[in-house]
Amino acid sequence: MGITDRPIDDELDGLLAKTRDRVSAIHDVLAGILERYSGLDEGELASYIPELARVDPALFSISMVTADGRSFDVGDHNASFTIQSVSKPFVYGMALADHGLDAVMARVGVEPSGDAFNSVLLDEESNRPFNPMVNAGAIATTDLITGVDLSERTRRLTGMMERYCGRELRVDNAVFMSERATGHRNRAMANLMLATGMVGPGIDESLDLYFQQCSVLVTGHDLAVMGATLANGGVNPVTGVEAIPAEHVKHVLSVIGTCGMYDYAGGWSFRVGLPAKSGVSGGLVAIVPGRLGIGVYSPLLDAHGHSVRGVRVCEDLSDRLGLHLMEPRRSDLITDLLAPRRLSGNSRSD
Ligand code: DON
Repeated sequence: MGITDRPIDDELDGLLAKTRDRVSAIHDVLAGILERYSGLDEGELASYIPELARVDPALFSISMVTADGRSFDVGDHNASFTIQSVSKPFVYGMALADHGLDAVMARVGVEPSGDAFNSVLLDEESNRPFNPMVNAGAIATTDLITGVDLSERTRRLTGMMERYCGRELRVDNAVFMSERATGHRNRAMANLMLATGMVGPGIDESLDLYFQQCSVLVTGHDLAVMGATLANGGVNPVTGVEAIPAEHVKHVLSVIGTCGMYDYAGGWSFRVGLPAKSGVSGGLVAIVPGRLGIGVYSPLLDAHGHSVRGVRVCEDLSDRLGLHLMEPRRSDLITDLLAPRRLSGNSRSD
C-alpha cells in the first residue's frame, strides 16, 4: 500500500519506529566510539594552571545535540570542568553583538596565525592580534564586552553562556584564582596590546573578566547544546531562547573553522572537516551547521593543547557519520534524524 493510502496515524507510527531505530543506532555509534578510546591514555593534563592538574584523567564523555534539540550522551557527560578556550568564540559573538563587525575587526583580525594558543605575536602591519581564538585575540575580544563594572560585565558574559547552555552556570573560583595568579604570559600580551592601542586602559579588569570566562563550569552535554545553538542559527534548540543574533553566527563559525584548533587547524580541517574549538581542560565542541553540536570531554592533552581522545573521537565520528563539510555524503543516520521535524509541518511528504 502506498504511503498516501494509509491512515495518517499509521504513517506517523511507522516514522516514529524508524526514528527510534535511528536514535538507538546513533547511541550505539557513540557508545562504540567511547569504548574504543577509553583505553587511550596518551597525553598530559594541563599543568601551567596548577588547579587544572588536579582532575581525574579518566573522565570521558561524548554528547551530540541536534539542531532540533534531541540529545545523545554517553560516558561522564554530567562531569563539570572549566570551559577555558571553548569560551572564546561565544565571547567573540557577544563582542560582535555589542559593537558590530567593523568595530570588532578594528581590534582583532580573522586570519589563522599557525601559532600556538599562547603566542605573543601580533600582526605586524595592523598591530592586531591575528584572530579571536588565540589568547591575545581572546583577551582583546573580552576587553570589548560592555558593562559599568566587572560584576556587570561578568553577569552579562555568564548570562550569554547560560543562554547557550539553557541553565544556570557558575565560575570555579579555585581555577579563577589559579589562572589569575599564574597568568603572566596573558598579562604580557595584554600590556603589548595596550602599547599598540588594541585594548583600552581598563585592561586589568578585562584580564580578570577573561580569567573568569575561562573558569565557568560546564559539562560535555553543555558543550553539545552550545554547538547545537550555533548549528541552529543562534537559537538554543532546547529552550528556544536566542543566544546570539542570527546575523553573527556565520562570523563565529568561520573563525572557529579557520582558527579554532590553532596550529592544528589545517590538519583538523583535513581530517575532521568541521568547525571546532578546544580548551586546555579537555573540552572540545564541534559543529555541523544546520544539524548538530558535538561535545567531547577528556582531560589528557596533546602538544597543541587539544584533548587527545577528543581529536580521535571527532575523526572517527566525522568518518562514520559522513560529517566532513567538504564531502557531499551524509550518513542516513544523520539525514533521517531530522526527518520527523521536517514532516511535522507536512505529514504526507517524504
Ligand atoms: O588563557 C589561558 O591560558 C587559558 N585560560 C585558556 C587557554 C586554553 O584553553 C587554550 N586552549 N587550548
